[in-house]
Amino acid sequence: HRHLLGIEPLAPDEITTVLDLAESYVDLNRQPKKRSKVLQGLTQINMFFENSTRTQASFELAGKRLGADVMNMSMQASSIKKGETLIDTALTLNAMHPDLLVVRHPHSGAVNLLAEKVNAAVLNAGDGKHEHPTQALLDALTIRREKGRLHRLTIAICGDIAHSRVARSNLILLGKMENRVRLVGPATLMPSRIEEFGVEVYDDMREGLEGADVVMMLRLQKERMDGGFIPSEREYYHRYGLDAEKLAHARPDAIVMHPGPMNRGVEIDGTIADDINRSVIQEQVEMGVAVRMAAMELLARNLREAPEPRNVLV
Ligand code: CP
Repeated sequence: HRHLLGIEPLAPDEITTVLDLAESYVDLNRQPKKRSKVLQGLTQINMFFENSTRTQASFELAGKRLGADVMNMSMQASSIKKGETLIDTALTLNAMHPDLLVVRHPHSGAVNLLAEKVNAAVLNAGDGKHEHPTQALLDALTIRREKGRLHRLTIAICGDIAHSRVARSNLILLGKMENRVRLVGPATLMPSRIEEFGVEVYDDMREGLEGADVVMMLRLQKERMDGGFIPSEREYYHRYGLDAEKLAHARPDAIVMHPGPMNRGVEIDGTIADDINRSVIQEQVEMGVAVRMAAMELLARNLREAPEPRNVLV
């Protein structure tokens, strides 16, 4: 693949290749003074048109730990504010010959569109409600490390499924790896025709969590609710917030995941989020750096083997 735009085009063995390479970076990341040189001489530009803490920081660290020249565009301070379009901005940066472009955008499909216009390898850092492929890969690596496998697990993804690119990328990846995926949440936060993805749908948390190996919680993404139905937080926590009583329905060794950012007391009880015997939220963040290193290294190998002509756009 030239780009990493989503999980959809990846075959199971390609997912395993990314995870295996990421695993090899976990130890290096624990001794960050040791630098690799696999991206030396390459330029990485991070363009975040939407807020981020984890994804932006980990892509930056991943690039630096592999020796790339990394530039973070401040999109709030860019000429987008003067009316320049996404595509004109991309063409402008393209003319500076970056090798890797990491892009987050609030509109579904915007990153795919941008990828058609540039020479660099593009990594989707989250586009609207569409995909967040590196999140699904880091979640998969965390699950594989914790459970010793990434197949035949029962995984409950809970909360605001309808507005979540994390849920979408995860259910595609976990389905490809032959897991049993359950989506748990109110019908108002469930996408239409979701059963077509081969998932089970529950509107009751206790039923949805029964016997689950993995409980993945999601934030209410109010920024994508477009003034539509926004549940009351108190009522939502009562019915769908993960607390000890609801978690007791999952397997005793079930792990609790959350992609972050987390709203304590809305979708998850803070005590559970902090419980080191159940919660793997910090491990997810740690795996995020390793997975992004692996994804960029694999795309950089392709760039070196089959570089695009530099003037395809003119
Ligand atoms: N999980 C995730 O994408 O977090 P950020 O929005 O902080 O990058």
